[in-house]
Amino acid sequence: MAQNRSSFTGKIGFVLAAAGSAVGLGNIWRFPYLAAKYGGGIFLLVYLILAVTFGFALMCAEIAIGRKTGQSAINAFKSLDKRFAFVGVLGAVIPAIILPYYSVIGGWVTKYLFAFASGDAAASASDTYFTGFIAKPFEPIGWFLVFMGLTALVVLFGVEKGVEKVSKIMMPVLVVLTIVIAVYSVTIDGAMEGVKYYLMPDFSRFSATTVLAAMGQLFYSMSLAMGIMITYGSYMKKDVSIEKSVHQIEIFDTGIAFLAGLMIIPAVFAFSGGDEAALGKGPSLMFITLPKVFNSMPGGAFIGGAFFLLVLFAALTSSISLMETVVSIVRDKLGWGRKTACLAVFVFCIVLGIPSSLGFGVWDFISVAGLSILDMFDFVSNSVLMPIVALFTCIFIGYVIKPKAIIEELEVGAPFKAKTLFTIIIKYVAPVCIILILVSSILDVLGVAKI
Ligand code: PFF
Repeated sequence: MAQNRSSFTGKIGFVLAAAGSAVGLGNIWRFPYLAAKYGGGIFLLVYLILAVTFGFALMCAEIAIGRKTGQSAINAFKSLDKRFAFVGVLGAVIPAIILPYYSVIGGWVTKYLFAFASGDAAASASDTYFTGFIAKPFEPIGWFLVFMGLTALVVLFGVEKGVEKVSKIMMPVLVVLTIVIAVYSVTIDGAMEGVKYYLMPDFSRFSATTVLAAMGQLFYSMSLAMGIMITYGSYMKKDVSIEKSVHQIEIFDTGIAFLAGLMIIPAVFAFSGGDEAALGKGPSLMFITLPKVFNSMPGGAFIGGAFFLLVLFAALTSSISLMETVVSIVRDKLGWGRKTACLAVFVFCIVLGIPSSLGFGVWDFISVAGLSILDMFDFVSNSVLMPIVALFTCIFIGYVIKPKAIIEELEVGAPFKAKTLFTIIIKYVAPVCIILILVSSILDVLGVAKI
């Protein structure tokens, strides 16, 4: 039961730990490239609307389920209703799909940190630096192993607390640096077009795919629909207000994503002369654009180095939380010791991560529905599995245990102001929207129909 589990210390402990998991590559690497690809302002607007409605309701719900049951995801659903145990299981699969490819991108960040630290900053701004790097068969895999190894060491030796302490200092510095870079970016010649693209919604670009992409990104960024917040909630003390904590996490997480977009998208316009094709670069966008920004910036080599170091920390706190989750599931289910479970997860990640990395080089001929291997893992987890888990979570709360059961938990530490909003979203708005969007965009990706 909840009382027997170790708890986060103090009121701020929970928020910091959850924010450490939430803020990562999703904010700095993934959000800007999706916003660039899916119409800029319209993506941002849809994302913000979803964040204050779905994101808020789902995060409150997950934390409350965790705190109410005192269990991690798989057991939490099971203990509330056996028929819904599969939701916990499905949610548990997601971190295992994300971690390998997350670590491939973490490897790219590590490579750029090394490049900046070893005086290669100017060279990294050339057009072919990134494409040349990811196309190599071995080098990106080497960096992936470095990142994965760092993550595994932290989890193996249980020194997450130490990393969290360092990141408490790193995170605020990351915010300041992101603001400095964003302010600089928007003042580059030709960047204004990009600022407009990012901030002014063009409603003609609205589509089901935009909403699905924004929704998947929301889940990913806030570490939702994969059981993580349920586990975090199970460690939360009863006297802490869930609603307030969720507001704080959400503001922090969304704020960093917004700034990252401002740092990257206007610069894409400035350096491509407004060429629309430059916006569709996908996972490469940050790595192609930022070195150019740093190269044109006074003191850019130093600022760039510091930036990649901070992003590496943010990425590590997230990958550690992903790996912890997978390791603890393996331990619970198979009864293995910590070391064996860590090793097994490490090997599993290498097996899945290497194809993701090679998919940008020697295996770039492999593509499913136009997606590279890494994009495919990303699509399956974010745009298929997470919406499904979110859908069942809403149905479960809305119609099986009923919103009242969760609202009671939300009211334990403090009054819960958004009761009506919560109930309407969980019971009606979220399930209907998720079904519509999921179906129409899967059809879209398969090339069957477009809504
Ligand atoms: N929320 C993280 C990010 O935005 O980078 C990704 C993530 C980390 C998802 C940890 C899930 C998780 F458990």
